[in-house]
Amino acid sequence: MFDTMTLTKVTGAVCGSLLVYMLGAWAAETLYHTGAEGHGEEVAQAYTIDTGAEEAPAADAAAADEPDFATVYAAADAAAGEKVFAKCKSCHKIDGGDATGPHLNGVVDRPKASIAGFGYSEALKAMAGDSWTPENMFHFLHSPKEYAPGTKMSFAGLPKAEDRANVIAYLATLK
Ligand code: HEC
Repeated sequence: MFDTMTLTKVTGAVCGSLLVYMLGAWAAETLYHTGAEGHGEEVAQAYTIDTGAEEAPAADAAAADEPDFATVYAAADAAAGEKVFAKCKSCHKIDGGDATGPHLNGVVDRPKASIAGFGYSEALKAMAGDSWTPENMFHFLHSPKEYAPGTKMSFAGLPKAEDRANVIAYLATLK
């Protein structure tokens, strides 16, 4: 009575049952593990590597956002800064004469808004007690109008931290 068709059906039924059994066992094990390891710590432990991977891009994002001034300035290159200064030349002279903006020779560590006869904005005059330390200028040049709302310096800013550090290093060579 065991013809091919019956044999095939029986084999199929056995294989099917086995498959269902194995799937069931696997599902049970999965559920068992999730249930048994429901303690928050253990689950967190299991994802230690994931957590690390999440922290790394976050740190990178923070770095890309605003690199540390000291680090960038320590590696600043005055020669590269001279090229960046091309963007400032239309308004700033470095021979002691003022133009649209005040002269920038000697500007590093110079008190803010201190060039007699230059018509500074109220925004800059209000900061006169302070001076242009490299770090202050680093933040000012990122976005002049955010650093000094109301400034007359209509310049968008230098988004790259390296450009800012380099141009400051260049300005520091001009006394
Ligand atoms: C479109 C013209 C313009 C450009 C371009 C420009 N500036 Fe200025 N800058 C000004 C003006 C105007 C002021 C005076 C701002 C005020 O009184 O609010 C100023 C002020 C400054 C001051 C403050 C000086 C002081 O005596 O207090 C610094 C520093 C400065 N600029 C640096 C730069 C640098 C570096 C660049 C190039 C990356 C640059 N500026 C590009 C117009 C410009």
